[in-house]
Amino acid sequence: MGKIICILFCLLIILSSSEAYKILAVLPIPSPSHGILGDNLVRHLLDAGHEVTYVTPFTSKQKNHTNLHIVDVDANHVIYEDGEDQLDFQQILDQKATVVDSPFLFWVLSNVADMTLSNPNVQKLMRDPQQKFDVIIVEYIFTDVFSALSAIYQCPFIWFSTIGPHWMVLNLVHGPLNPAYNTDFLQARIPPFQFLGRVEELWTQVKGLYRHKFDFYYEEERIYQNRIVPILQAQGKPVLDFNVIKYNASLLLGNSQVALGDAVPLPPNYKHIGGFHIDEVVKPLPENLQKIMDDAEHGVIYFSMGSNLKSKTMPNELKKGLLEVFGSLRQTVLWKFEENLLDRPKNVHILQWAPQQSILAHPNLVLFVTHGGLLSLTEAVYFGVPVIAIPVFSDQFLNANQAQHKGIGEQIDLSYNLDKDLKVTLDKILGDLPKYTARAKEVSAAYRDNPIKPGQELSFWVEHVVRTRGAPHLRSVALQVPLYQQAYLDLLAVLLAAAVGILLVVKKIVCLLTSKSKKLKKN
Ligand SMILES: *[C@@H]1O[C@H](CO)[C@@H](O)[C@H](O)[C@H]1NC(C)=O
Ligand SMILES: *[C@@H]1O[C@H](CO)[C@@H](O)[C@H](O)[C@H]1NC(C)=O
Repeated sequence: MGKIICILFCLLIILSSSEAYKILAVLPIPSPSHGILGDNLVRHLLDAGHEVTYVTPFTSKQKNHTNLHIVDVDANHVIYEDGEDQLDFQQILDQKATVVDSPFLFWVLSNVADMTLSNPNVQKLMRDPQQKFDVIIVEYIFTDVFSALSAIYQCPFIWFSTIGPHWMVLNLVHGPLNPAYNTDFLQARIPPFQFLGRVEELWTQVKGLYRHKFDFYYEEERIYQNRIVPILQAQGKPVLDFNVIKYNASLLLGNSQVALGDAVPLPPNYKHIGGFHIDEVVKPLPENLQKIMDDAEHGVIYFSMGSNLKSKTMPNELKKGLLEVFGSLRQTVLWKFEENLLDRPKNVHILQWAPQQSILAHPNLVLFVTHGGLLSLTEAVYFGVPVIAIPVFSDQFLNANQAQHKGIGEQIDLSYNLDKDLKVTLDKILGDLPKYTARAKEVSAAYRDNPIKPGQELSFWVEHVVRTRGAPHLRSVALQVPLYQQAYLDLLAVLLAAAVGILLVVKKIVCLLTSKSKKLKKN
């Protein structure tokens, strides 16, 4: 018996050591939810025995690990003008906040990309001729420029997308998506679309593709020339056209799951790994919180607008209004809020820090009131909890629409009427709670019923790409077919030309005949 165990153990060591790869992971956005995704992505790769070089703006949070090398891009935090990575409640209520559209995202985030690639720590890493990687994983931040990293390390490249599958990132590994049933994530439609919706989706993609081919491309090309090309030249590596490099990615890992979004057709190199950030084992709650939740005989409602909204900028009347609404409920309310509110009703507890996953996992939790960020919604679905979504920006509107469409919740606008709207919606859901809960459990069951866990799936596909030298067999053939051919515009041109030709011939014959008959008449 001892012998067998010893042999198994040796085998395990051999297997795990022979499969240890050197991985470069770049997740440069200095926003907390992106940090959570990055840290967990790296965690799974380290757990699988790999060596990870991690480019991150969150350096203080990182644990010491012999196989982890941190490359500090803390400087990226400067993109938030006021030094705070949070949104202003008041500005959003007064509709003065910046509108997040696709050009806005591109220009802000291509600035982040440029800052990351020119950061001395990253430059040092790229210029080090000793550095070799088996594979590179980069978060897609609405610019394609990071694909240039694969020219330096001459190894396979993997995109990681933090939101559901969308045409912009799929364009890099497959081509645009059919706008008749794939929504742009800012348009936030649920298929099937109305006629005008379909037209607007088409127009959004056409406009976007044009920008990515021209406007945005010049900026990416500029960053490539400034930050990457000098290194390629110094190292004597081939300097390829950026247009060639950017379509060379092997895989696209998506922070998505079909059960949570739309079942849209995707290429074979798109892999759903949504939920990988959730701990496999629920961490215990702090003692006092555990007691509050255990004692809540009518259940607990958890309210959190995430880390994006500055609590202190919430108008006082709204705070008072919300406290009143919560006070009128039988349930216990946990409100994640950075400041302590005085004159609270007895059933309302303020949490400055909230272990969200452990709260959602508690059997007494009945409802989650959230901004509808994808991580929060994923956790709600994972734990089978109904939601009220109050979307604020970016993909949150799409997530809120999805939650409503799937019957696991309702959504309301963030407005000065939030307290009143919330009261109405709370009454609606709490009055029909078994229905919403049953639906949430159903979606949760579909979500969880997978052959392997998302974290393992993540490591598996990363390893698969290395083992198969860039997984060329997974690449979508659509990438080889220009758009005009996919849309059969060439056939249309041929048919039009033929029609025009036939018309001309007919016209000629008619002319000939009529002139002949005229001549005959004359004679
Ligand atoms: C990590 O290691 C460094 C140097 O060995 C040490 O200064 C630091 O305190 C350690 N951090 C943690 C979180 O253990
Ligand atoms: C293109 O992809 C292949 C396979 O992943 C990789 O080996 C090669 O280095 C890449 N080339 C460039 C220029 O990125």
